[in-house]
Amino acid sequence: MRNRTSSIGVSILGVSLFLGVAATATVDAAPVGDSVKGKKLHETYCVECHDSKVYTRPNRRVNSLEGLIGQVKTCSRLPKDLLSPAQVNDIIVYLNDTYYHFK
Ligand code: HEC
Repeated sequence: MRNRTSSIGVSILGVSLFLGVAATATVDAAPVGDSVKGKKLHETYCVECHDSKVYTRPNRRVNSLEGLIGQVKTCSRLPKDLLSPAQVNDIIVYLNDTYYHFK
């Protein structure tokens, strides 16, 4: 079992989110996933800190598919339950299909 240090994670969130995007920016291929599953996962795990308005706000942080992949990978470490890589891909596909529309 991995010992989650969520209180530390949250207190340095601003920094870790930024680093997360930079560190995973080399990911190239668009992930393959199931948008329907991703929607359910998103409702379960992702709305405790922010709702979907962060994806459509005018000054949103994510401006590319690489950025979206990095941000979701970073944020998916925050919920109490650990998400599998396939679940993370489902959420990325859901967010891209629904809000971001990167090619
Ligand atoms: C522990 C709190 C927390 C959880 C849980 C969380 N996030 Fe986040 N997320 C944040 C914060 C903080 C930001 C940055 C908000 C800002 O920049 O104002 C953010 C930003 C984002 C962004 C960038 C939005 C933009 O500006 O384009 C995406 C995408 C995102 N989160 C996806 C997710 C997904 C998917 C999940 C579920 C797997 C999730 N988040 C769960 C805290 C969280």
